[in-house]
Amino acid sequence: MRKISLFFICMIFTLPGFAQRGGISIDSIVSLMSIEEKVGQMTQVDLGVIAKGENCKLQTPQELDLSKLNLAITKYKIGSVLNVGCGSGTISLENWRKIIGSIQNENAKYSRLKIPVIYGVDAIHGVNYTVGGTLFPQQIGQAATWNPALVEQANAITAYETRASAIPWNFSPVLDIGRQPLWSRFFETYGEDVYLAKTMAKAAINGLQGKDVSSPYKVAACMKHFLGYSYPLSGKDRTPAWISDRELREYFVPTFQQAIESGAKTIMINSGDINGTPVHANYDILTVLLRNELGFKGVAVTDWEDIYKLEKVHRVASSKKEAVKMAIMAGIDMSMTPLDFEFTELLVELVKEGSIPESRINLSVKRILTLKKELGLFAYPFYPSDQYPKFGSKEYAEVSYQTACESVTLLKNQNTILPLTNTKEKIFVCGPSANSLNLLNGGWTHTWQGVDTLYNTKNKLSILQALRNNFGNNQILYAKGSSTDSLIDLQNCINQAAKADKIIVCLGEIPCTELPGNIDDLSLPKAQNTLVTKLLALNKPLILVCCFNRPRIIHDIVPASAAVIYAYLPGDEGGRAIADCISGKINPSGKLPFTYPKSVNDFVHYDHKTTEELSTDFSMNGYQPEFDFGFGLSYTNFTYSAMEFSKTTLSGNDSVEVSITITNAGKRAGKEVVQLYYKDLFASITPPVKKLCNFQKVELNSGESKKIRFILKKEDFSFINKALQRVTEAGEIEIQISNQHKRIYVN
Ligand code: BGC
Repeated sequence: MRKISLFFICMIFTLPGFAQRGGISIDSIVSLMSIEEKVGQMTQVDLGVIAKGENCKLQTPQELDLSKLNLAITKYKIGSVLNVGCGSGTISLENWRKIIGSIQNENAKYSRLKIPVIYGVDAIHGVNYTVGGTLFPQQIGQAATWNPALVEQANAITAYETRASAIPWNFSPVLDIGRQPLWSRFFETYGEDVYLAKTMAKAAINGLQGKDVSSPYKVAACMKHFLGYSYPLSGKDRTPAWISDRELREYFVPTFQQAIESGAKTIMINSGDINGTPVHANYDILTVLLRNELGFKGVAVTDWEDIYKLEKVHRVASSKKEAVKMAIMAGIDMSMTPLDFEFTELLVELVKEGSIPESRINLSVKRILTLKKELGLFAYPFYPSDQYPKFGSKEYAEVSYQTACESVTLLKNQNTILPLTNTKEKIFVCGPSANSLNLLNGGWTHTWQGVDTLYNTKNKLSILQALRNNFGNNQILYAKGSSTDSLIDLQNCINQAAKADKIIVCLGEIPCTELPGNIDDLSLPKAQNTLVTKLLALNKPLILVCCFNRPRIIHDIVPASAAVIYAYLPGDEGGRAIADCISGKINPSGKLPFTYPKSVNDFVHYDHKTTEELSTDFSMNGYQPEFDFGFGLSYTNFTYSAMEFSKTTLSGNDSVEVSITITNAGKRAGKEVVQLYYKDLFASITPPVKKLCNFQKVELNSGESKKIRFILKKEDFSFINKALQRVTEAGEIEIQISNQHKRIYVN
């Protein structure tokens, strides 16, 4: 450990043993604590509660109000603070260190036991609340890379830059499965498939936490939002989900189970309800399932104000006090209160009057203190700034660029119109996302909703700027043509396009998340539809670039468009990645992590049941998405041959090796995702028509062939049965890789 600054020396704690990392006994600290001190540890407030200005209308740049902070420390003995002050913007590295340094310093001076405060932040796609941090594609784009090594690297960089900001706790990753495309947070998920999302969950946890979470470059992860948050029946944020216990375990538990097995330290709870019970009050989910069955030992934190909402919104508690009791007894450890101290006062009362046993809160306090100890906070509440030379570096931006490049998904390329290689042709560029960094980044970018342009990182390129760099100013013509929802001087746009040889329309969606992101209809906004339709009437090759929060319906405009690039929300380097895909500097290799619907109510997933294939004419052609899960083109083409199994029957603990040869039959090098699906021919629960159970991303030069091997075990073909047990039933399984199929018998 490097030399500690003078500032730190003031913060070395006085209680015997506290100053040494690892040298503290959590039990002995808890035995010294008063009820107020314990409850304080269970309280998390927003920065607004201790900063100058009013809640959600803070003075900027944010600055601590020392009298408010003193009250929070001495009277309420708070254990945790979060975020930038609701509605406020991003904070500079220096200011973060000043704010958190002062919190720890004041806490060390005025609290009796000097237990360090834990600061948590939403670093959702990079450290999005620190000025100049590296911003990656949102999770849905990360999933589209099908490259867990890149996702791990991106998360490791996020951890580094979060700790550089003096913050040891990141409320990420989102492990909710994206099976409801209307949902405003669809872009925050790893998509619809359980196996792909589990693989990415593991990569994210490893990247954030590493092997030793006390390292100056690692943070505690927070898997969220347990459980079933992403599947509201109406598609609206925080509205009821109807999910059977079997389906909960089949689709929604596995990502969390994987993250728990990967050592995730904390978990955040779903603000909504499942089958009529708000999850924050659900003992069966928070204690029986999470603790007893899944074996989670870390900290369970509520989501924003969710204890109060048991009374205010869900109406299952008739007072705030009852709400506090319900949530704590259900299994909550820490309350993201976050705008006042009523939770703290009520919980003290409940414990003192005997309505909640002190042993119950001891359990939570021990979990919270263990987290602080594992993070090394008792020894080093934060690390010196000179340990972070790579913050916001070019090296890190290149990893973001690489991630964006591997996420870009080419969905249509008629007559191989792309890449555009003619250096003489004029290219007309338009559309709402053509010249906007915000529309490339989406929500959780510098501000909660990500709309404010004030905080954008300097020198990052929009799609338009990157195209100009690639093709030269003379080749590129531009007019905006439309915002996300209104046409802008359409005639001028058409006139300009008429002068060009090729047209690129960059579609987009207003950055948003949570409630402000609710929509009633997945259709592409009318203005954007009109823009494309009018330009298509010019009969020139038109390329669509889609930067959406969720798959907006493009069915009317896909057939006449020559090419479609789906870019998700690719982050600060997304402009370069898209332009490089268009000019052919990179070869796209992204694959859809969800099924792209053809029409607004058509939410059938790739792993649907056979009944969902039935068409109105009684044929089996009923499943007709716009684009299928796992789909994505390349500038080269790959062929598959010679699928072989090492055995024809799989029993007990045996494994089978499945091998296949893949050949790059095209003219340039490229990456391909070899996707292994299986189909259980008959099962006691209606089996899906196919299910992903493994994949590998490989790179091949032109003309090169490679033999790819997968090792599979019986449990790879398992599912949750009627008795809620995970089983693999005896019978035939069909393995499918691309156009190759072969059966194996499992017993
Ligand atoms: C969101 C969480 C987030 C929390 C803190 C909530 O509204 O649902 O995902 O971590 O706020 O910002």
